Amino acid sequence: MLSRQVAAKLAAYETPFYLYDVELLHQTLESLMTMASRYGYKVHYAIKANYDARLLQIIREHGLGIDCASGNEVRCAIEAGFDPKTIVYAGVGKRDKEIRYAIEQGIFAINCESIEELYVVNDIAAEMGKVVNVALRVNPDIDPKTNHCIDTGQADSKFGISYEEILDRVEDIKALKSLDVVGMHIHIGSQIRELHVFENMCNKVNLIVKNLTALGFELEFVDVGGGLGVNYDMPENEPIPNFASVFAIIKQHLQVGKREVHFEFGRAIVAECGELITKVLFNKTTATGRRLVIVDASMTELIRPALYGSYHNIENITSESEQRLKYTIVGTACESTDVFDENVSLPLTKRGDLLTLKTAGAYGMSMASHYNQHDLPAAIYSDEL
Ligand SMILES: Cc1ncc(COP(=O)(O)O)c(C=O)c1O
Repeated sequence: MLSRQVAAKLAAYETPFYLYDVELLHQTLESLMTMASRYGYKVHYAIKANYDARLLQIIREHGLGIDCASGNEVRCAIEAGFDPKTIVYAGVGKRDKEIRYAIEQGIFAINCESIEELYVVNDIAAEMGKVVNVALRVNPDIDPKTNHCIDTGQADSKFGISYEEILDRVEDIKALKSLDVVGMHIHIGSQIRELHVFENMCNKVNLIVKNLTALGFELEFVDVGGGLGVNYDMPENEPIPNFASVFAIIKQHLQVGKREVHFEFGRAIVAECGELITKVLFNKTTATGRRLVIVDASMTELIRPALYGSYHNIENITSESEQRLKYTIVGTACESTDVFDENVSLPLTKRGDLLTLKTAGAYGMSMASHYNQHDLPAAIYSDEL
């Protein structure tokens, strides 16, 4: 909970804005990288989670690489000073110009998600007179036990190449002379809180790596993606995600010999350090008796609740009232789904009060839009207050 002192300072800024706890981000990265180095694991930050330049600078200082989902994300990472040799690039639909750019930059690997993509990357690399490092993104058919809107590794998903298809096309893939298939990649979904899922993932990866090796692929690395979830319900109880447990599970169950093991965490790195600060514009009650608080943020600053039904803990950081009431918190956008949460217990909340939507550092600002011609929210950093 933000102190009264901090809340008073925040009142000076135009709302809505993202507030980033820089110290917490440092602590999170310190914890992550200390444990990763203990096991010799490589970590890429999934830049799609948040592109904020200051956060990227801190992430770079801690020695992470980057995981991208578009050519512009590759460009953003390079402009932020990340070494191209630490950049991986996945994505089901890469445009030719994005592939060409990634090859030009000499990134660590392009993670290919269809057989057709392998052919196209091969052709573009051949045209450029290069041999390019690729990883096969395999769809492992695993249920990550998360919100179905953010699972990516089940058989029917658009992500990755089905393992069966790879087996059928082994000789075709090997014949692509401008590709070096040096890695195997999977990413099964996001906000994974049931950690035993990672054990199932390891069992699948072991089998796939063993078989691909027997079929003649010389895999140098295995990239097991991201996905580690955070505690949206009670963020204060778990400000730094449980990297230790995930790494221990991977260490115990992944059997890939001396190959490098890579991770691509997004949410677990930045979700906790960000919150969205918004001001109450109006109160009103519907004919059905629903007490609405209308705030000056909306789905254009934080779309997760409207897009996935996601939950963010909401607090009133300025009210000093003893009286508590149940409110529905809605945004300004001209969409009925622009509701942050219902039945939120808050102290008596009035026009001008500041609310915080917690754990909003990941997939908040990076998904912000100009819908309704809204301005993009600003960023304020805790060490500048
Ligand atoms: C390929 C890939 N890697 C990594 C991530 C990051 O996932 P998370 O933020 O859950 O760690 C994503 C998220 O969508 C992804 O698609």
